[in-house]
Amino acid sequence: MTLFPGVALVTGAASGIGRATAISFALEGCRRIAISDINLTGLHETAKYLKEVSSDVDILVNQVDTQEEAQIEDMVQATVAKFGRVDYAVNCAGVGGTRERSTDLTAKQFDFVTNINYRGVWLSSRFELAQMLKQEPLPTHDGRAGNRGAIVNIASQLGIVSTNNAPVYCASKAAVISMTKSDAIDYSKENIRINCVCPGIVDTPMTQGESGFTKALETSIAIAPMNRRGTPQEIADACLFLCSSKASFVQGHAMVIDGGYTIN
Ligand SMILES: NC(=O)c1ccc[n+]([C@@H]2O[C@H](COP(=O)([O-])OP(=O)(O)OC[C@H]3O[C@@H](n4cnc5c(N)ncnc54)[C@H](O)[C@@H]3O)[C@@H](O)[C@H]2O)c1
Repeated sequence: MTLFPGVALVTGAASGIGRATAISFALEGCRRIAISDINLTGLHETAKYLKEVSSDVDILVNQVDTQEEAQIEDMVQATVAKFGRVDYAVNCAGVGGTRERSTDLTAKQFDFVTNINYRGVWLSSRFELAQMLKQEPLPTHDGRAGNRGAIVNIASQLGIVSTNNAPVYCASKAAVISMTKSDAIDYSKENIRINCVCPGIVDTPMTQGESGFTKALETSIAIAPMNRRGTPQEIADACLFLCSSKASFVQGHAMVIDGGYTIN
């Protein structure tokens, strides 16, 4: 029996960690997967990969800008209209922003990063929670009591520790960790689990190229004892564990997957 008999919803699924997570759900036997992103071309590429790994997977593609509350509400409603429920929600949509200290940043840049990385994740989880509250748990792989749903928010190692020239990004990720813990407290009694994952530097488009953000990463990679980038798959694996019934007693956790960056 698959660990994922229910419905998965992944935001930020056009690229990187979100794409790897969606593909992993398909590989692990999830047959109903909703993928969303602002980038429709990338979403169609992800859908093609899903079909390659699992020809009988049913896919819903939603183009969504997570700065827009109505679009997020529509995304969850469309998922429920097509698949009947939302069991595993992984909120990956995010941006790096520019590498500058506070006096060199504008309020507009602050709003952009905060609105996507924090407010967008909060809005996504808010609508996902509202649906999960309406549904009953599915049977689990070994007969233990299941949950009504499980949410994984993507934070960062930079929500645990900070770095130079990234005040807004670091704060947005610390906010995601804090919100995750608050929600975990509030929705435990309704049998919904909310956790977050805090990746270190992972090899995705966000950390490639020549932007100021990416150049500064080489120093950070050298700080981590494992001295390498993580792969999107290594983060996806943690997301799937936290969504699965094998994690039925894991609640409000900030799972750090960073090659040891934050222990150094
Ligand atoms: N790559 C890393 O090193 C790293 C480290 C820690 C945390 N993270 C976090 O992981 C998450 C995924 O990042 P990634 O590395 O896969 O980067 P990525 O750039 O490959 O993927 C991010 C995705 O989010 C989408 N997105 C951006 N703004 C959006 C919006 N307004 N609405 C909907 N979708 C939007 C992008 O189109 C893209 O597909 C982000 O939250 C990021 O902050 C990444």
